[in-house]
Amino acid sequence: MRYAITGASRGLGLEFVRQLLNRGDSIDAGARSPAEARQLQGLAQDSRGRLRIHTLDVSNPRSVAAFAAEVGQGQPVDVLINNAGVFGKNEPLGRLDFEDVEKTLTTNALGPLRLTSALLPALRRGEARRVVHITSVLGSIGDNAMGGYYGYRLSKAALNMGMRNMHLELRAEGFVTIVINQVWVQTDMGGPQAPLRPEESVHAMLQVIDGLSVEQSGRFFNYDGSEIPW
Ligand SMILES: NC(=O)c1ccc[n+]([C@@H]2O[C@H](COP(=O)([O-])OP(=O)(O)OC[C@H]3O[C@@H](n4cnc5c(N)ncnc54)[C@H](OP(=O)(O)O)[C@@H]3O)[C@@H](O)[C@H]2O)c1
Repeated sequence: MRYAITGASRGLGLEFVRQLLNRGDSIDAGARSPAEARQLQGLAQDSRGRLRIHTLDVSNPRSVAAFAAEVGQGQPVDVLINNAGVFGKNEPLGRLDFEDVEKTLTTNALGPLRLTSALLPALRRGEARRVVHITSVLGSIGDNAMGGYYGYRLSKAALNMGMRNMHLELRAEGFVTIVINQVWVQTDMGGPQAPLRPEESVHAMLQVIDGLSVEQSGRFFNYDGSEIPW
């Protein structure tokens, strides 16, 4: 299968690439600065052409269009994994940094929407027709008992709503689109105290993604396949 994945320079994105390569899949990986993504470059060198690296900043419309043109080029994409994300600052209401909130929304919510829109022709050529968004339980309104993280919570709630709309629009064409939550994982974003390693987290998410049926489209999953309230 052919996968496209964003934010592949490090963290969960890099681990997705590693595990997909190990099992024989073909990947188009987006990274903001490919030359600095040394581990990703190393994987590409050993991949016999199965991993292609492209420059991609999901917050930049021109970069998204260029990525989609390079990756699409008449070829199918089976699965798109919208993984790239930023955490943003955690400030109280009276001290919000609105530039930071805007950047978080642009990256985490608009980025996946823009990229899925641009890659739609290639996804329509694909057999699997799957669009997976890496969300967070912090985007759940029903689960929000602690508050804080305005930008990140807003962005993931908006991402969830965007996914739900995509599901409603595309399900008749056989698309399966979901949001999947990470609990707390040891990446640059999660920090070293997180209980879960990227290897475990990505392994579990790939099991969920591989097993998806049309009936499961439009849902909010946890990384282990259980469901999360909106
Ligand atoms: N780790 C956790 O505990 C946790 C929990 C819940 C959800 N998540 C979600 O999981 C996803 C991956 O997170 P992670 O833990 O792997 O984070 P990470 O280690 O901080 O990595 C983030 C990745 O996103 C990329 N990125 C950031 N802004 C971008 C942009 N504008 N365009 C393209 N790429 C961009 C980064 O690229 P650069 O290297 O260029 O900066 C990097 O590859 C995110 O969506 C995050 O919200 C993570």
